[in-house]
Amino acid sequence: MNRIPQHVSIIMDGNGRWAQARGRERVFGHAAGVESVRACSEAAAEAGVKYLSLYAFSEENWNRPESEIHRLMELMMEAIRNETKTLLKNGIRLRVLGNRARLDESLNRAIDAVEEETASGSRMTLVIFLSYSGKWDILQAARRAVAERGAEGIADMDQEAFSQYLVTAGIPDPDLLIRTSGEQRISNYLLWQCAYTEFYFSPLLWPDFGKEAFREALEEYARRDRRYGKVK
Ligand code: IPE
Ligand code: IPE
Ligand code: MG
Repeated sequence: MNRIPQHVSIIMDGNGRWAQARGRERVFGHAAGVESVRACSEAAAEAGVKYLSLYAFSEENWNRPESEIHRLMELMMEAIRNETKTLLKNGIRLRVLGNRARLDESLNRAIDAVEEETASGSRMTLVIFLSYSGKWDILQAARRAVAERGAEGIADMDQEAFSQYLVTAGIPDPDLLIRTSGEQRISNYLLWQCAYTEFYFSPLLWPDFGKEAFREALEEYARRDRRYGKVK
């Protein structure tokens, strides 16, 4: 029985509401959310999950107030700085995927460095989606496919070949997608990759989503019956 999902993905939502419920600024919730990232990474690695991916910042999130965007990017930078050692120690490989052209030069450099440093981590791959959206991904894949193969080359391209142009090339599609904070929508996340993913919605706000909540989601996943359109 293969009941542990190979790839778990999380839409980490509810930081702002968590902070506002405490009479604090939204960014206070983002800082608190870093703890949940740590907890879920540990829980995933302990459970034997091979890929944990996290939606940290969407292309649409660029429309938020400048100060909030700045703090989120700063937190990303701090996390890279503070966690690289732990990633190395735990055999975790870090990948950061999204529209990297929109990120600051200094952040891009830090990302390149940590990706390179952790590249041999084989226990688990941690993927952070930053400045990512599903429609952007599909469009950039289509453009690259045409540029590389030409019109004739894409005429007979199958789904497997196309998926190699998505930023997630080489990463299996998510088996389980968790979204916190009670919202039940995909918000332009992994549109192509979630074609047959199991969805799990938690009412908990992201800073309240810890190890126990993560394990409960895995238990629920183990009870799901995946049919892929077939009959049993
Ligand atoms: C998720 O929390 C983090 C990001 C989208 C960057 P939110 O900031 O969306 O928090 P809510 O949904 O407003 O409570
Ligand atoms: C989705 O959360 C994006 C991330 C968690 C990074 P949002 O809070 O931006 O999504 P909407 O606006 O509620 O759909
Ligand atoms: Mg939100």
